[in-house]
Amino acid sequence: MAEKPQPFDPLDPEQAARRAAARQRLDAIDPAKKPGEALKDPKRREWFEAVYALSEGDPVNVPWGHLVANPLLLNWLAGQIELRGKSVLDVGCGLGDNAAALAEQGATVTAFDLVPRAAEWASDRFPDSGIEFRAADLFAPPPQWRGAFDLVHETYTLQALPAAILPDARKALVDLVKPGGRLLVICRARAEDQESDGPPWPLARSDIEAFSECGHVLEKLEDIPPGLTPSRHWRAVLRKPA
Ligand SMILES: C[S@@+](CC[C@H](N)C(=O)[O-])C[C@H]1O[C@@H](n2cnc3c(N)ncnc32)[C@H](O)[C@@H]1O
Repeated sequence: MAEKPQPFDPLDPEQAARRAAARQRLDAIDPAKKPGEALKDPKRREWFEAVYALSEGDPVNVPWGHLVANPLLLNWLAGQIELRGKSVLDVGCGLGDNAAALAEQGATVTAFDLVPRAAEWASDRFPDSGIEFRAADLFAPPPQWRGAFDLVHETYTLQALPAAILPDARKALVDLVKPGGRLLVICRARAEDQESDGPPWPLARSDIEAFSECGHVLEKLEDIPPGLTPSRHWRAVLRKPA
């Protein structure tokens, strides 16, 4: 039976205070928060591993541990009719809530995270979901995943990577999509000329449009104002030509 936890409640002062304290601890050990240091470890592997290692199994200590699927994914899924039986890959799955929402649509879901502890944690939370949770690196995925998925979904992983590695990340995402399949990207948005003191680094429209350099066609790009999420977001659907 899937765990049915209470979602993280940012309006609960006790939870909010514990999350803020965790964020402060994690920022203090994040080289990307120190100008000029982000590129030494462009994948930020050590920091992502530290997030899960230092969490002591408490999702409040994981900045993206909301224990509920992203509202912009849920809202997108509500308009989908054809995911049953499709192969779906969830990239950077974290604690697994987005993967679980995709599986509830009847899709055959594989979900992966760079950090083995994240994949194990997600798997423990959704043992009966049928989802294959595993540790893998977007930049070195299992060869059998290349061109294998009807839908590749990523929320908040691109924005967690420095700009210099985005072209490689886009190519890696596109490589996983089946010809004729789709890529769904959900991320925070910024204006083209807006400075960002990330991580996370909200993406500009040009960062999304650059998927066309990898041969993907931008089917739909929504510029979503704060509402369902606290800040402006992009929701992009890209199609790999058949
Ligand atoms: C900001 S979190 C978002 C997690 C989840 N997608 C969500 O929306 O809750 C980014 C996740 O991507 C994972 N990640 C970072 N780099 C990755 C890579 N190269 N391959 C796979 N996962 C990665 C991190 O460990 C982390 O769990």
